[in-house]
Amino acid sequence: MCGIFGYLGGRAASPLLLEGLRRLEYRGYDSAGIAILNSKITVNKCIGRVADLESIVPAELHGSIGIGHTRWATHGGVTDANAHPHMSEDGKIAIIHNGIIENSRALRRWLTAEGILLKSETDSEVIAHLIHRAVGDGLSPVNAVRRALRHTRGTWGLCALFAEERIIVCARNGSPLVVGIGDGESFISSDPQALSAHTQQVIFLEDGDMAVLSPSGVETCRLDGGSSDASVTTIDESWGEADMGDFPHFMLKEIHEQPESLRQCISGRILKSDGNGRLNGLDLTPKELQRIPHIRLLGCGTALHACQVGRLAIEQLARVPALAHVASEFRYNDPVIDSTALYFAVSQSGETADTLSAVKEIQLKGGQVMGVINVVGSSIARQCGRGVYIHSGPEQAVASTKAFTNMVAALTLFSVQIGRARTLSVAQGKKVVQALSKIPDQIERYLANQGPIEEAVEAVKDARHVLFLGRGPSAPVAREGALKLMEIAYIPCLAYPAGEMKHGPIALLEEGSPVVVIAPKDKFRQKTLSNVQECKARGAKIILIHEEGDDEFAEEADIAIAVPKTNGILSPLLTVIPLQLLAYHTGLALGCDVDKPRNLAKSVTVE
Ligand code: AGP
Repeated sequence: MCGIFGYLGGRAASPLLLEGLRRLEYRGYDSAGIAILNSKITVNKCIGRVADLESIVPAELHGSIGIGHTRWATHGGVTDANAHPHMSEDGKIAIIHNGIIENSRALRRWLTAEGILLKSETDSEVIAHLIHRAVGDGLSPVNAVRRALRHTRGTWGLCALFAEERIIVCARNGSPLVVGIGDGESFISSDPQALSAHTQQVIFLEDGDMAVLSPSGVETCRLDGGSSDASVTTIDESWGEADMGDFPHFMLKEIHEQPESLRQCISGRILKSDGNGRLNGLDLTPKELQRIPHIRLLGCGTALHACQVGRLAIEQLARVPALAHVASEFRYNDPVIDSTALYFAVSQSGETADTLSAVKEIQLKGGQVMGVINVVGSSIARQCGRGVYIHSGPEQAVASTKAFTNMVAALTLFSVQIGRARTLSVAQGKKVVQALSKIPDQIERYLANQGPIEEAVEAVKDARHVLFLGRGPSAPVAREGALKLMEIAYIPCLAYPAGEMKHGPIALLEEGSPVVVIAPKDKFRQKTLSNVQECKARGAKIILIHEEGDDEFAEEADIAIAVPKTNGILSPLLTVIPLQLLAYHTGLALGCDVDKPRNLAKSVTVE
């Protein structure tokens, strides 16, 4: 997803902007550019990586004010001209923009009719020209931005650099922006991660907020003219300090971080003697937990798969009806919102537009939404106001791994907590929380002895398609494994509840077709074994993720990968790990960019 970084102060802006953009690279992008103000605005931009941009930026480019952008193409192809920043015709205003201007086609037609020569195919460029026209009508920079945005419909995280006034005017609506307050200098970014190296004092702008960065400091206000109540908060200095360490890629590092990140997630949240969980951020009393009629969980991608595991845990442990919803579908399906029900918005970044929109829809109808979020202070976390931080630490790889296991752990702890407020006994609760407390060590043990991953890579890397099968809590794991292999190795994958396979997908199977089956020793094992036989009868090559010690099942597979035994509903925390490794090593074998896969962004802040 697009990244923004801006600076105004006494230091050379160019190296600061390039470093800021490098810290945003993990978000995924396809072009980059910077605008630096010295005696005039100088823009350098190109397709490719920040390193490619750095190679074209003149070393002698001086100036202590500037804005920079990494673009993830939405409107207009991946070209130098479509990269940001975009300039006004007189070259005195430069803008960078995250989001989508929904009425850009009409604005482009109008500007062209007014004699403006548009230089790009993008929606964003129109903003530069609208601001320029407003300045030409005598408006101040802030009011010119206000007028320009009043003509636009859509979302924006916008920064406009004004050469004459030597200021940066920012505006936020639907796409995150955070201001950094330094000592005699100020910053703007789409992500606090890019600021933490310079300052921990930040202002998270809300929708409708504006901010002006000037030599005298930072002022905030509202697009509608009022004053903003956005306040300065302190972010953790370590946030965003993620580096690769001894690992070749962030994805592998984050797979191996799961034992520790899981410990961080469950630390202080397990009450072993009571057989209970304690998620204080939910701030729900036992009486309130007893009164909840049903629960809905919302997420996208990997977060959706965590929701699908969570809903099973809630129904199994608390006997409360629970459903997982695709966040991007939710608000458009005219959902019936029950103000007495409980909703969870699950998101690693806390910036996914589809999930944020669903949260707002629920709240609009009086619903109560809790966040299950990794990034502290993110938009969804602030929109929900209450919830659970999963404490995975910065997740830099586009493919979500350690956030998935922590989301599942947090939702399982909630399932125990609401279960124990109802009919779940101490003994039953103890079984789950004791098993959960062992998972970090079990993941560590598995990572030290991963099994025939390379054989599995050989079986899938040249396949036309790969089918993933699982039942019960292994069905969402099948979907997660398919998503990982698709997004990292670009191999077409299908994931189905194993029982569904004979109702259609079995037609895909031919001699040597790889089928990945997730089958811990739970109540679904026997049925899944039958499905494996059905696949083998069609010549499929079976890659089995099974429980260690289940040799009978392992003998049925061509490639058998054993994971430690645990409580049934917790099995996804272990069975997912080999699938993460399978995707990573297959992507490597195929020469893919495993940390920044093509076309993907780390957080999708557009609907
Ligand atoms: C997962 O590997 C993908 N990167 C993607 O599906 C991701 O899970 C999805 O975009 C949701 O992101 P979020 O958790 O930040 O909301």
